[in-house]
Amino acid sequence: MKIISDIQELRDHLRGQNRASFVPTMGNLHEGHLSLMRLARQHGDPVVASIFVNRMQFGPNEDFDSYPRTMQADIEKLEKEGVYILFAPTERDLYPQPQEYRVDPPQQLGDILEGEFRPGFFKGVCTVVLKLFSCVQPKVAVFGKKDYQQLMIIRRMAKQFALPVEIIPGETIRAEDGLALSSRNGYLSTEERAEAPELQKVLKEVRERVLQLKDRTSQSISEIEKVAVASLAGRGWQPDYIAIRQQSDLAPASNEQLQAGEPLVILTAAKLGKTRLIDNLEI
Ligand code: PAJ
Repeated sequence: MKIISDIQELRDHLRGQNRASFVPTMGNLHEGHLSLMRLARQHGDPVVASIFVNRMQFGPNEDFDSYPRTMQADIEKLEKEGVYILFAPTERDLYPQPQEYRVDPPQQLGDILEGEFRPGFFKGVCTVVLKLFSCVQPKVAVFGKKDYQQLMIIRRMAKQFALPVEIIPGETIRAEDGLALSSRNGYLSTEERAEAPELQKVLKEVRERVLQLKDRTSQSISEIEKVAVASLAGRGWQPDYIAIRQQSDLAPASNEQLQAGEPLVILTAAKLGKTRLIDNLEI
C-alpha cells in the first residue's frame, strides 16, 4: 500500500485510473470501516482510502483534540484489506491556505437532527468530502448508513454538483450485543459500554410501536418519539433526539404517510456520560 500525504503525488499515482473506488475516513479504523473497504473493492479498482481528522466539522467544544489517532494500527488493517493507496494528508497538505470557499448544504437537510445539535457540522463534512473527491477523482465512493444523514447529504451534494462519482451506501456493522461500531465507543467506561446497546433496543421498540400504529391510530408518531426519549432519559442518558422521519428527505413523518407505507427511518443521538452516540433503524 502506498501512503501519500501530498495532493500532487496522489494525482501522479492515480493518473490514468478511471475506476477508482474511494472510502473517506477519520481513522481509528474498526470493522465498520473495513466493511466499506470490501464494498469499495466490489465496485471499483484500485481502492483508495483516506484518513483525515477534519477540524472543520468539529464544534469548539467537541473532541477534535482527543479524537483517537491510531495511524500505525490503521495502516496494518488497510494493508490486510488490499487497499492500494492511503491518502493521509496533514492539515497543511489539504488546506495550504485557509479554506474560504465552503459547501453549505440546504437548511432543511443540514440544520436538522445532527445539524441542529452540531451547528456547521455538515458544512465541514461537505467541504472536506468535495475536496477529497477533487483530490482522488473516484468513480465511486462508499459511505456508511451508520451516519444516515451524512450519507443523504453527500448523495444530494454529488447530484446537485453533477459530480462524476456514484455514492454507494454500506450497512451498519454492530458488535454482538447490537451496539453500532464507532470510534467514539472507545470513550465509554465499562459500565457505560454495558448500557450502550440500549440505544439500539430503544430504536427497535420504536419500530415495533410504529408498525402497530398501522392498525391503531390512537398514538401519534410524536407521542412515540416522546416516550422513547423519556425511556432513555430514565436510564441516565441525555438524549438529543429520537426522530421518526421519511427515508427520502428526512422530513417529519405523518401518520398518513405511515399508513400509506412510506419508507421511514428512526434516527437518534444521545449522550451516555460524556460520550455522544448516534444510531438509526430503517422501517
Ligand atoms: P468516520 O466517522 O471515520 O467514518 C468513515 C465512514 O465509515 C463513514 O462513511 C461512516 O458512515 C462509516 N462508518 C462508521 N461506523 C460504521 C459502522 N459501524 N458500520 C458501517 N460504516 C460505518 O464519517 C466520517 O468519518 C467523516 O465525516 C468523513 C466522511 C470522513 C468526512 O470527514
